Amino acid sequence: MEKIVSLCKRRGFIFQSSEIYGGVEAFWDYGPLGAILKNNIKNEWLKTFIQKRNDIVLIDTPVIMHPKTWEASGHIQNFTDPLIECKKCNARFRADYMKDGNFVGQGKAKEKNQCVQCGGKDFTEAKQFNLMFKTFLGSVEDDAHQAFLRPETAQAMFTDFVLAQESMRMKIPFGIAQIGHSFRNEITTGNFIFRSREFEQAEIEYFVKPGNDEKAFEEWVTIWENFIINLGVKKENLRRYEHKKESLSHYSKRTIDIEYKYPFGWSELTGIANRTNYDLSQHSKFSGKELSYFDEENKEKYVPYVIEPSLGIDRLLLALLTDAFDEIKGGRTETTESVKEEEIVLRLDKKIAPIKVAVLPLVKNKENIVKKAKEVYQLLKPYFMIQYDEVGSIGRRYRRQDEIGTPFAITVDFETLEKEDVTLRDRDTMKQERIKIRDLANVLKERLES
Ligand code: GAP
Repeated sequence: MEKIVSLCKRRGFIFQSSEIYGGVEAFWDYGPLGAILKNNIKNEWLKTFIQKRNDIVLIDTPVIMHPKTWEASGHIQNFTDPLIECKKCNARFRADYMKDGNFVGQGKAKEKNQCVQCGGKDFTEAKQFNLMFKTFLGSVEDDAHQAFLRPETAQAMFTDFVLAQESMRMKIPFGIAQIGHSFRNEITTGNFIFRSREFEQAEIEYFVKPGNDEKAFEEWVTIWENFIINLGVKKENLRRYEHKKESLSHYSKRTIDIEYKYPFGWSELTGIANRTNYDLSQHSKFSGKELSYFDEENKEKYVPYVIEPSLGIDRLLLALLTDAFDEIKGGRTETTESVKEEEIVLRLDKKIAPIKVAVLPLVKNKENIVKKAKEVYQLLKPYFMIQYDEVGSIGRRYRRQDEIGTPFAITVDFETLEKEDVTLRDRDTMKQERIKIRDLANVLKERLES
């Protein structure tokens, strides 16, 4: 994990948020490459579930909703973690991470029998702590103006159910989807971007006829798992965990988590829940508006059931980085240089790699080579996320691109000047082949899509 965190900082993927002020716990900034990587992941999700299917529509809604939303959804009442406090130093921990007097949870609360901050052994009784961040709407800071930052994106898919269904003339079964930021005032943080206080979720609320929910649930578990695998998470690092009745969320009839083997152990990557008609019924009750569906063909009206696959984009990104991270002791033997130190190759899937192609002049002190390399760079720039690099030896520059997962590197050399061709190097096989400059865009397009 330390190596991944260090690579992320060094190469501009992820930084501690507000680092110059000492950081804010459990908030992270995506740097120049991390931001592109994250967008690529989200775009793949949109392509898979919105573009390629015709039964799911996308919405994009504010992080603050009408405060009644959270009364209806049950979050004010139930979205809590049990909290204990060290009587000596007032440090707070999640009580459910304590078992038989030992801290068994993640992050800081790992030490045994005593407070990790001061060594104290006396704790308060557990009390329920609501994880929703509070704020106020307008200039008056009283209870009547209190609002919450959403802890999940899902609720807008319920409150907009009729609007989305009618405007798009959707027929059940159909889904409403959203990607967006969610906020939770987590008590126990740590493990890099795994548990943050602000994170991104990609969620689908898939509405089905009651009675068809169990089959749809099974289908979604497989669809969801395949999506993750297709992006590059190794199958052997995934497993399913079925929640026991007593640990189900207040809205759920059945939940399966897909867990990933993170460097710190198996933990939830994503979950699929059968939310029944709980949310639509609750919002109907609290708003006084009917939230049902009329089946024209069978002339029947019902409140649909909901299957919800929900994915934390940051957790997926961490899993993808972990599985892509390949450290080669002693380096790979490639160029004439002997690179003896460890080499890192980030074997990200081409679909999500932030930079697709690097253009490298073989040497930087030959004007005509540099000029040609810049021409090639300009030629390809409209089509791909691309980098130009002339600093350091060619071997070093390949390594730098390998570390950020760039699938292809183009080298402009002396032969280029005569033959109008370049070498194209593959990140994983390190094979190099000569390609005519005029064919480059098409060849790259083909290979990036294959
Ligand atoms: N709408 C259902 C829902 O929010 P959840 O299991 O609480 O269910 C769904 O969250 C997903 O959101 C999780 O599987 C995880 O990927 C992600 N997630 C939840 N809390 C998170 C946190 N503090 N930091 C990063 N990701 C988180």
